[in-house]
Amino acid sequence: MYELIQKFHSGWAYLAILVLVIAVINSFSAKGSNKEFTAKDRKIALFALIGTHIQLLVGLILYFVSPLGSAAFGQMKEASLRLTSLEHPLINIIAIALITVGWSKHKKAISSEAKFKSIAVFYALGLVLILSRIPWSLWF
Ligand code: HEM
Repeated sequence: MYELIQKFHSGWAYLAILVLVIAVINSFSAKGSNKEFTAKDRKIALFALIGTHIQLLVGLILYFVSPLGSAAFGQMKEASLRLTSLEHPLINIIAIALITVGWSKHKKAISSEAKFKSIAVFYALGLVLILSRIPWSLWF
């Protein structure tokens, strides 16, 4: 059970980050260019939202079955355990909350410019936070 979830979380991370990067590049390149927000732009942003939410759900399960998750919580002196049991989960939850805010703000926005702007700003913030707390040494 643990190994399966850990492998999924490890593999899905590539997809989630890739789609998020594409959504950020797409919205930044369109922002300020008078481009219309099309169904394609909406789909890219939606895939990034879904991809990161799946990663969040699997991460939450992993947190309770992994020896590096809740079981290691409190071992704050060990940097790698502090990363997987506290910093990575906490920062990623905040990051995905920001991405969700960007998605709902784009839905309420009327102009294409405002739609691109909310995706660009909130998704980029989320991406930076996610990348800042990846346990790189476990991943590669
Ligand atoms: C978009 C968000 C996230 C991304 C991209 C991500 C990515 C990763 C990656 C690449 C690893 C290393 C995997 C490996 O060992 O090969 C990892 C480990 C881990 N993640 Fe996440 N994660 C995310 C969100 C979360 C969340 C929200 C939680 C918990 C609430 C979480 C809990 C964990 C735990 C406990 C580990 C250590 C697992 C182990 O090796 O036993 N992750 N994550």
